[in-house]
Amino acid sequence: MKILAINGSRRKQGNTSILLQSILKAADQAQHAIEMISLGDYRIEACTGCEGCSGSWDCVIKDDYAELIHKLDQADAVILGSPTYWYTVTSDMKRFIDRCYSLIQYPHNRQQWIGKYQDSHKVCVTAAVCEQPEESMMGNTLTLLSDFSRDIGLQLIDSVAALHCFEAGRVRGETTVLEKAEQAGTMMLQALER
Ligand SMILES: Cc1cc2nc3c(=O)[nH]c(=O)nc-3n(C[C@H](O)[C@H](O)[C@H](O)COP(=O)(O)O)c2cc1C
Repeated sequence: MKILAINGSRRKQGNTSILLQSILKAADQAQHAIEMISLGDYRIEACTGCEGCSGSWDCVIKDDYAELIHKLDQADAVILGSPTYWYTVTSDMKRFIDRCYSLIQYPHNRQQWIGKYQDSHKVCVTAAVCEQPEESMMGNTLTLLSDFSRDIGLQLIDSVAALHCFEAGRVRGETTVLEKAEQAGTMMLQALER
């Protein structure tokens, strides 16, 4: 199995990275092929809304996006993680999500769409981190990742929120959250094996 973890944080040793590693623990123990990427390492231009992807699954902008989509195409499971920046995902993650407009098509009307991966049996877990202790201060970070994953046709297995984590590494002290993250990773593998 190929597991792809996509991190919206540029802090390589940050809280999102640690949370993703906890979700990946079961896959690592089962010796599945794991790749964790930081979106900040890729050149992702902003979606221009040109509609050049209507009628195809490809984006017309030529940058590192195609490489990322190749990784998504190859993955059996995808983990999406982002810190909260101003009540939502980071700009790296938002740019990536916007460009994934090419992963949905509207064959009949604008109210109904199909996701590229909807019959692929790919599974997904989403994860989000924020500094404040109240979930409302996370804004739509986790719901955006989850709604996006479902829209492109991934089967969402679970979501993990880590609150009250400001400085890089703080989430290591949140044992309950890390246990929940490991459980989400185990459930993800079980869904893959079904
Ligand atoms: C530009 C910026 C905006 C932020 N906005 C919020 C916010 O709206 N709510 C919140 O609770 N934390 C906010 N934070 C705190 C981060 O979500 C927090 O530090 C998180 O642990 C960073 O994750 P990382 O270590 O994976 O990079 C913000 C941090 C930055 C740098």
